[in-house]
Amino acid sequence: MSHEAHEPETPHLDFQGTTPYEDYVKADVLTHLQHLLSDDPGEMVFLVTTQVMELWFTCIVHEWETAAKALRKDDVPTAMDALKRSIRELEALNGSWTPLAQLTPQQFNSYRSSLGEGSGFQSAMYRRLEFLLGEKSASMLVPHRGSPRAYAELEKALHEPSLYDEVLRLLARRGHPVPQEVLGRDVSQRYESSPEVERVWADIYSGDEDDELARLGEALTDVAELVWRWRNDHLVATRRAMGSKPGTGGSAGVAWLERRAQKNVFPELWTARSHV
Ligand code: HEM
Repeated sequence: MSHEAHEPETPHLDFQGTTPYEDYVKADVLTHLQHLLSDDPGEMVFLVTTQVMELWFTCIVHEWETAAKALRKDDVPTAMDALKRSIRELEALNGSWTPLAQLTPQQFNSYRSSLGEGSGFQSAMYRRLEFLLGEKSASMLVPHRGSPRAYAELEKALHEPSLYDEVLRLLARRGHPVPQEVLGRDVSQRYESSPEVERVWADIYSGDEDDELARLGEALTDVAELVWRWRNDHLVATRRAMGSKPGTGGSAGVAWLERRAQKNVFPELWTARSHV
C-alpha cells in the first residue's frame, strides 16, 4: 500500500468508564442543568445565556483574584496577564448579550411570569465581581442566607481588599502619595473616590506611557469600560424587553438599573484624565 493510502489514526472510541473529556469537562452535568419553567420555546436561550454569563462571571472573578494576589506580592507581570485575559473574557461575556438583545415584551412575557421573583440581582457570582471592583455592600449578602456556600464566599470577599485596594497599596509601595485613610480604609465598605488618588493617577499618566504603572492603569480602564458596557447592554436589553415595568426582583426595573449603570468603575482612573 502506498504511503498516501494510509488512513490517518482515528480517535479512540473505547473507554473503561466515562470518557476523559467527560471526567474533565462534566459536559453531561452542564448540558442537563436546563430545567425550563414554561412551555415557551424562547425560554431555553434565556436560561442558557444566563448560565453562560454565570460561567464568565466565575472565570473573571478567578482572573481578578489572581491579579489581586499577584499585586500583593508586587508581581505586576502576573497581574497584567490575568487582567488581559479578563479583558478578552469580558468581551466574550458582553458578546453573549446578542441572543437576548432584541427580545420584545411579548416574547419576554411568554415565560416571564414563570420566573417568579427570580432575578439576576440574586446572582452571588456577579456580586463577587462587583465586590472585587470595590462596590462593597454588606446588605448584598442578605439574599444568600439560604445558600451557605455562596454566603460564606461572599462574606469572605466582603472583608478582603478589592482588586482596586491592592492596586492602590502597590502605588503606595512604589512611592506614590496614596493617603493613609485610603490605605487603611474599612475594605468592607464601598470604595469612595479620593482627590489625592486622582492626583496620583494624573501624575502616572503624565509620565512615561510605557511605565509599568501607566500600563496597569490602562488595563484597569479597559476592565472598567467593559463592565460599564455590560451594565449598559443589560439596561438596553431590559428597556426593550419590559419598558418601565417593575423588575421580577422587586426593583423599579429600568430606573433602578439606570442608576447602577451611571456608576464609574475605578472612578479616579476616569477623572484623572482631565488633569493630564
Ligand atoms: C432581557 C432579559 C433581562 C431583563 C428584562 C432583566 C431585567 C433585570 C432587572 C429589572 C433587574 C433589576 C432587579 C430586579 O428588580 O429584578 C436586573 C438585575 C440584574 N440582572 Fe437582569 N435582566 C435580563 C437578563 C439578564 C441576564 C441574561 C443576566 C445574566 C446573569 C442578568 C443579570 C442581572 C444582574 C447581575 C442584575 C443585578 C445588577 C446589579 O446589582 O447592579 N440579567 N435585571
